[in-house]
Amino acid sequence: MALASESRHGMWSSRWLFVLAAAGSAVGIGNIWKFPYMAGENGGGAFVLIYLVCVALVGIPIMMSEVLLGREGRSSPITTMRKLTESAKRHPLWVFIGWMGVLAGFLILSYYAVVAGWAMNYVWLTAAGTFDNATAEVASTTFDAFLASPWQLILWQTLFMIITIWIIGRGVTQGLETAIRLFMPMLFLLLVTLLVYAVNSGGFEQGVAFMFDVDYSAFAKPEIWIIAMGQAFFTLSLGMGAMMAYGAYVPENVNIGSTVLTIAILDTSVAVGAGLAIFPIVFANGLDAAQGPGLMFVTVPLAFGQLPLGAVFGTLFFVLVSFAALTSAISISEPALAYLVEEYNAKRKRVAISLGVICWLLGLGSVFSFNLWADVHIVGELTFFDFVDYVSQNIMLPLGGMLIAIFAVWLLPKTVLAKQLGIESRAVSVLWKFVGGILAPLCVLAVFVYTLWPVIAELVARVRELLG
Ligand code: PHE
Repeated sequence: MALASESRHGMWSSRWLFVLAAAGSAVGIGNIWKFPYMAGENGGGAFVLIYLVCVALVGIPIMMSEVLLGREGRSSPITTMRKLTESAKRHPLWVFIGWMGVLAGFLILSYYAVVAGWAMNYVWLTAAGTFDNATAEVASTTFDAFLASPWQLILWQTLFMIITIWIIGRGVTQGLETAIRLFMPMLFLLLVTLLVYAVNSGGFEQGVAFMFDVDYSAFAKPEIWIIAMGQAFFTLSLGMGAMMAYGAYVPENVNIGSTVLTIAILDTSVAVGAGLAIFPIVFANGLDAAQGPGLMFVTVPLAFGQLPLGAVFGTLFFVLVSFAALTSAISISEPALAYLVEEYNAKRKRVAISLGVICWLLGLGSVFSFNLWADVHIVGELTFFDFVDYVSQNIMLPLGGMLIAIFAVWLLPKTVLAKQLGIESRAVSVLWKFVGGILAPLCVLAVFVYTLWPVIAELVARVRELLG
């Protein structure tokens, strides 16, 4: 089958717009909300180091694989995998990558919308002056009171979901492009403002030390590895087909390697920037770095509350965070949406509404995890929200990413690979095969085995016991 040079869903109008759209997908609440709180919960330096190594060695090659598969298939991830397994004469089971991605997308979007809703609520709270000269205590109690009200959470989750559905129903490449062009640079600027505040907050040295002083004994804790690796996948939007779906709209003449590098650098700088802005505020105000999901929602309002014109800047900050969440949410839904449109010739709008409703319903579980079901544990200590987050981010994304890299490097015809990546010399080809085909998948596998070893060992022991 001859593969298409354009996608039926539209095309990015230039390399730069692909960079913006992919950065719009990658930069989201994963960077500004999740990265700092995960680093805080997992002791800082060691987590940050593993995360950075994973972005460089695992994330970048896997993102290249995803984008190149997408551009070769020019369809939704499921259809792309179907086309590519057929044309390369590989086992149809590889299409599983596409299906697992769609499932992971549902899980992620379900709770993503809930947290994005928090950011939207904070737009109003900040604009109303709630945090003007507020103390750490006020910032914390405001957040706790908000989480305790299921109705408020549902209200904002619903609003976010409606906006997402409205935009994805119209198509990714229209409208979105203009908006991203405007908002991404503004978000950067406001992060810099926060950073300047953090530098002068009196806690900067401590913040930097927390993020970059590595406690090597932490490496002995298997959990930290899988969580930091999962975070690298999540933040780069990898392993579930989002980048594959966006790759389908990339023009032929775009160089995948350099483009992916640009996106990864942008994404990592926002995450590290957010950490550098938030931790000094934590230490300067005697807050707990390990307080979990509330970290950003307590520290950022506190900082803006003390700045001149803080309500204005703070409001703008949360507008931009909500917007960053929106551009990510759009990409999370794109694999499923594009697939249903292709497979059933369905109207984008109708598909968007159906997907949205399912995600919304699933998201209620996460809403209740913070109030009504706070004591309901799915596995161990994990609430519904924790569980959905853990399984999608730490298991499904790395597994999907590993399979994507293996497929792209070893199972696609060599000519396709060379064409897509523009590889001309043998040395580059060998390097790519080593990094993309061996090192990246092996790292994922090693982390899986290392982390899951106790679970595997316990299972084996139980089976042995049962067998007497
Ligand atoms: N990368 C996004 C963020 O950091 C989240 C995301 C995950 C987007 C998976 C697409 C796919 O917020």
